[in-house]
This record gives sequence, structure tokens and C-alpha cells, in this order.
Amino acid sequence: MFQASAVAIDDKPAFYRDLDKQLGGLLAGERDFIANAANLSALIYLMLPDLNWAGVYLMRGNDLLLGPFQGKPACVRIPVLPQPRGVCGAAAFHRQTQLVGDVHQFPGHIACDSASNSEIVVPLLCGEKVIGVLDIDSPSLNRFDRDDQAGIEQLMRTFMSLTDPPG
Ligand code: SME
Repeated sequence: MFQASAVAIDDKPAFYRDLDKQLGGLLAGERDFIANAANLSALIYLMLPDLNWAGVYLMRGNDLLLGPFQGKPACVRIPVLPQPRGVCGAAAFHRQTQLVGDVHQFPGHIACDSASNSEIVVPLLCGEKVIGVLDIDSPSLNRFDRDDQAGIEQLMRTFMSLTDPPG
């Protein structure tokens, strides 16, 4: 049984280093994408304070399709090509993390949960190819900073190294 251990959040780099270790332990012994993405979403939702949604969208053709997540039911399909929509579409299209302090100022933001006010979306890269994104939403404005970005990007590198691409 997985036991999450409490970590200090006043030191974000230390918090994310610890969380990265917990993720490594949680995913050890299984490389299936859906199973590992489900536990990744659950771990992030459980351990990061002040969230209302955390989950994965997977590239399917030209769109992102909803994958494992924690939170309220969400929009199922988000176009990436030829014209990206929303924060998730932008992250996949540009292959770059989108750090959005106020989603209401982001052109084309897709409001799945009206409680969301800030958001971070990290692309999942398999070499140069985007295979999906990790999306995390918060009810607080400016919830995520550069330390969160660095920590979450490292979590995603760990996730990708321990997980086979989806079939
Ligand atoms: N807000 C996202 C859509 C996904 S939900 O937040 C879960 C976006 O603008 O792409």
C-alpha cells in the first residue's frame, strides 16, 4: 500500500525533490502509461496544496484527448492542430510549459471548472514528439511559480523515464 509522507512546503525545491522520490517509488515495477498516469494524477492532487484539478491529456491524431485525472469531469477533446485551443493546446503546439497566473487573461482558455483561476500545463515529450500534456489547475490566482514549474517538469521527466509511451 502506498503511504504518502508529509513534506515541508516552505522549501519548494526540497518539496519537489521529495515528491520526485515518492513518484519513483510509486511507479516502480509498472510501465503501463494509463496505470502510471492515473497514479501520477492522484499523487499530485493529493500532495500539492490548493488544487482543483490534475490530470493528463493524450495526443490522439490532431487533438488532445482526456486521460486519467483527479477533479471534476472535464472537457474531453482539445484541438492542437492546425490551430491550438486553450492552455493545453498551446503547451502541446509549442512544446513548452505554459505557466498561467490568471486563466481569465489567457486568450482561448477552456473553462472546464469555473473554480479554476490559475493553471500550469507541461508537455509530455518522447524525444522531440509531444505525446500529451499534464494539466494542473488551482482556484487561486498565481498559484504556480518558477519553482513549481521546475519541480513539475522534473516529475514529468521521471514519469516519462519510468513509463512506456501509450500504444
Ligand atoms: N483549462 C484547460 C482545459 C482543460 S481543464 O482545465 C481540465 C485549457 O484551457 O486548455
